[in-house]
Amino acid sequence: MATLGTTEAVLFLLVLGGLLAGLGSIVLSTLRTGISPMPTSPRVRREVLGLVPSDTRGVVLELGAGWGTLAFALADHCPQAQVVAYELSPLPAGFCALRQRLAPRPNLRVAREDFFRASFAGASAVVCYLYPGAMAKLGPKLLAELPAGARVVSHTFALHGWRPVHTHRLDDLYRTPLYVYEVPASAPRAGGE
Ligand SMILES: C[S@@+](CC[C@H](N)C(=O)[O-])C[C@H]1O[C@@H](n2cnc3c(N)ncnc32)[C@H](O)[C@@H]1O
Repeated sequence: MATLGTTEAVLFLLVLGGLLAGLGSIVLSTLRTGISPMPTSPRVRREVLGLVPSDTRGVVLELGAGWGTLAFALADHCPQAQVVAYELSPLPAGFCALRQRLAPRPNLRVAREDFFRASFAGASAVVCYLYPGAMAKLGPKLLAELPAGARVVSHTFALHGWRPVHTHRLDDLYRTPLYVYEVPASAPRAGGE
């Protein structure tokens, strides 16, 4: 029976250690943020893009970029916009940074930051795929900081207390709902009256 040589054994342990460290980092980040970096499926991504006008200008925020599934597609879909994609989990954020280095999108910035600490002021659109707890916290921040008319597209989870201008339900396995909101003119603004 063949046995592992010292070099192979060291390589094996390094690879195993790397995999375990990566997995541990994802588990810890999931516990911290409340959601894993589960990517949007290609089918849902196509539908989400259809809800963001391709001539959108200004800043488009992607809240929780994961592996960049939506962020890179958004940058391609909205060439006149600047996409800022926030991701807190180190491994997916590093993967997005590597992707941006290998296949750069000039109108995309990947920020390894907590989007709850970022300013949304002046953004023209927001796209997210999060979870109910984050949506509950996000609603008041979006109302306070986004300009009137800004578009919010949420994959699966609704904004509590907001009335969508459009709800789109896919005929996929999960009957995935997509919610489209527009920030009303009467919303209280940060720094306003
Ligand atoms: C379900 S994944 C969505 C990934 C990607 N948007 C997509 O649709 O393929 C949600 C991501 O949000 C990230 N996230 C959750 N809360 C965050 C926060 N406060 N700041 C930055 N990223 C956050 C998680 O780490 C996770 O990768």
